[in-house]
Amino acid sequence: MELLPEKHAILVIHGPNLNMLGKREPEVYGKATLDDINTALKETGNRLGVRVEAFQSNHEGAIVEKIQEIMNSHQGLIINPGAYTHTSVAIRDALLLLNFPVVEVHLSNIYKREPFRHHSMIAGVATGQISGLGSDGYILALEYLARRCQAIAQF
Ligand code: DQA
Repeated sequence: MELLPEKHAILVIHGPNLNMLGKREPEVYGKATLDDINTALKETGNRLGVRVEAFQSNHEGAIVEKIQEIMNSHQGLIINPGAYTHTSVAIRDALLLLNFPVVEVHLSNIYKREPFRHHSMIAGVATGQISGLGSDGYILALEYLARRCQAIAQF
């Protein structure tokens, strides 16, 4: 019996307050809820042949632990660390454990906003960053990661 190859697994981490999307400052973050975004990501994953999982937490330590967990089980990470983007050395250090691509996503353009949002602790260790494209940013990040997975699978 021929075994089907395992699908590549991509995790999406949503940081604090992103569970309130839809209700939270819709003029900044849009009207889509977190469920809308996760559903669109899973549908896109099905189309692209990758498995998408989503995780949200309001707690820095829980996000660090999730990153540690996926070291050997996943092939890509999309992370919107919310406000931890600007403060978290712990999340930055955890990301350095990963030897696969990491895309940092922000719904809003953090460089057009208050000065304290202009600095990302994460950007220096991420593969790349998408900021200001609303929920499309997650889909574009997933398309990039799926393309990277396919490139690796061809070797
Ligand atoms: C955010 C930008 C952060 O500055 C903010 O704290 C968030 C959301 C974004 O997606 O635009 O919670 O990461």
